[in-house]
Amino acid sequence: MMTQTLQTISDRALPQIEEALVRFSDLGPDCPKRLKEAMRYSLLAPGKRLRPMLALLATEACGGEIEPALPAACAVEMIHAYSLIHDDLPAMDDDDLRRGRPACHKAFDEATAILAGDALLTLAFETVAKYTQPPPAAAACCAALAEAAGACQLVGGQADDMEGERGEGRGEIETAEGGIRKGEGGRKKAESESSTHHSSFIIHHSAAHDLLASIHRRKTGAMIRVSLHLGGLVAGATQPQLESLGRYGDNIGLAFQVIDDLLDVRSKPEIMGKRTGKDARRGKLTFPGLIGIDQSTRYAAQLVQDACESLAPFGPRAAGLEVLARYVLERNR
Ligand code: IPE
Ligand code: IPE
Ligand code: MG
Ligand code: MG
Ligand code: MG
Repeated sequence: MMTQTLQTISDRALPQIEEALVRFSDLGPDCPKRLKEAMRYSLLAPGKRLRPMLALLATEACGGEIEPALPAACAVEMIHAYSLIHDDLPAMDDDDLRRGRPACHKAFDEATAILAGDALLTLAFETVAKYTQPPPAAAACCAALAEAAGACQLVGGQADDMEGERGEGRGEIETAEGGIRKGEGGRKKAESESSTHHSSFIIHHSAAHDLLASIHRRKTGAMIRVSLHLGGLVAGATQPQLESLGRYGDNIGLAFQVIDDLLDVRSKPEIMGKRTGKDARRGKLTFPGLIGIDQSTRYAAQLVQDACESLAPFGPRAAGLEVLARYVLERNR
C-alpha cells in the first residue's frame, strides 16, 4: 500500500467531498433563493472538511468503499456548518469572521443565518435517510447522528459552554495546592504563569478539568466521534470495530478542541480564517486558561497517542486515520 500523507488523502478524498456537498445542497426551486444562498455560503466555504474525511477513512479502515459513505460524510459536515453559523451569532460567541469570510449573519442577516442553520441541520438527516444503503444502515446512521447533534451532546455542550461564560464556570476554582483562584482574573493569571508554575493549579481530576473535558467532548468531540461511527456503519463494521473507532474518535475529538483553544491563544486570524484571542476576551473556560499552554499541548499529544493505539486492530488499513490524528495535533488552522 502506498504511504499515505495528508496530501495524498486530501487529493483523493477532498474533490469527492466537495462535489457531493455541492450536489446535496443544490435544493430545488421551492427553497427561497436567499435561504439557499446562505446555506451554501456557509456549507461550501473553505472548511478543512476534517469530519467528512474521518468518515471516509473510517469506512476504508473497515474495508468499505468511499462512495457509499459520501451522504453520511456530507451530513456530518452540514451539521457542523449549522453549528458554526449558530455559534457565531451575536447571542452566542458573537464572531464576525468564519472560514476567512464574514460570518453568515454578517453576510446575510441574523434571521437568515438562524434559518440557514435550521435548514442545514434538517438537510443532513434528509441526505442520510435518502441516500444511504441499505435502509437499516441509514436508520442507524440517523439515530447516531441525532444523538451526537442533540441536547445531550453538541447542543448540550454548547449550552454548558455558554453557561460557563455567563458565570458558572467563572466561579472559584480550587488549585492543586488547595488554594482558590477566582473567575476570569484568576484564569488570566493562570495563563501568564502557566509556562513556569502550571503545576500549582489543578491539572488532573479536578472538577474544572473534568467539567471542561466534558464540555469539549460534547460540543466538539461528539460530532467527530460520530463521523467515524457513521463511516463504520456504512461499511458494515463489526461491534469491536465500532468500539475501536469510538475510542479513537473520543480521544481525537477532545484533542481537537484542546488544540482549538490553543490556536485561539497562539494563532492569527489570517491563518485561522476566524478571530483569535476571543476566548480570553469572553472569559471562556479553556484548557490553556486552566492548565497553561505547555500542559495543554502535552495533554493533546497524549490524547492523540491514545487515539492511535486504538487503531491497532485495523492494521495498515487505518494508516489514513493515523495521519489525520497527527494532523489534529500539528494543524495550524
Ligand atoms: C471549528 O471546527 C469549530 C470547532 C469545533 C472547534 P473546524 O476547525 O473543523 O472548522 P472548519 O470546518 O475547518 O471551518
Ligand atoms: C465551537 O467551539 C464548537 C461548535 C461550533 C459546536 P468554539 O466556539 O471554540 O469554535 P470556534 O473557535 O468559534 O470555531
Ligand atoms: Mg463557541
Ligand atoms: Mg466560537
Ligand atoms: Mg474556539
